Amino acid sequence: MKKTARQLKVKVAGNEKVKENIYRLSFRSDYLSKHSLPGNFIHIKIENTVLRRPFSVHDIKGDKVYVLFKVRGKGTRFLSEYKRGRSLDVIGPLGRGFSLKVPGESLNIIIAGGIGVAPLVFLARKIGKRGQRGNNLAILGFENTGDIVCEEEFRRLAYKVYISTEDGSRGEKGNSVGILKRILSGYPEETFMRIYACGPKDMFFEINKTAKKFPNAECEVSFEQFMGCGLGVCCACVIETKTGYRKICRDGPVFDIKEIW
Ligand code: FES
Repeated sequence: MKKTARQLKVKVAGNEKVKENIYRLSFRSDYLSKHSLPGNFIHIKIENTVLRRPFSVHDIKGDKVYVLFKVRGKGTRFLSEYKRGRSLDVIGPLGRGFSLKVPGESLNIIIAGGIGVAPLVFLARKIGKRGQRGNNLAILGFENTGDIVCEEEFRRLAYKVYISTEDGSRGEKGNSVGILKRILSGYPEETFMRIYACGPKDMFFEINKTAKKFPNAECEVSFEQFMGCGLGVCCACVIETKTGYRKICRDGPVFDIKEIW
């Protein structure tokens, strides 16, 4: 159940380097663990930076909340240096998450581009509790082998995992949508399916073209976006939809793909 966002003071429980420039930070929060939904994000105040930074809820185990992030600039570099026990100022849960209205018999496809995989592990955990075993697939696309993260998490959640790399160093060469096209070509058009995606916007565009051939396909996408206030006040995160401009921080970050194209 999602509740109103709260500002919370928590303590870093761990900050593990997962891959070069990719970290998994964790902290304990009873409130966030109870009230966050897959696709929600939290806004973290990082010392020596002016604006808070948004991070999707990567996973929740018990009262432990995980954030997976890539070092992309000064703020995330500072955050990567946070050690266990350091205090953290977070606001959350924020944003609109995935709808999770998955009928048990549908084919559930999670598709990630790069660090866009971050919110999809928590989602996979929630879907895994509802969907039928064998109906859950995860397609994970990365630049190269060195970037691959979260593969084992999806396997442990009983997902059939497909990997693509842009340079062909592991799995299928190309992006994750190529795998989606190949998999879907083996299913009848009337198949009920739910597609959940996070990654670059170009990837969503391609997914939409592919999913359109299936009248019973539903697709939700989570946008990765620079944010200012994170609360719907500053307009730094506006996106054009079919029904006008929307704010990714407040009306998203998850949108039904039909709202966009
Ligand atoms: Fe300020 Fe979305 S980040 S309105």
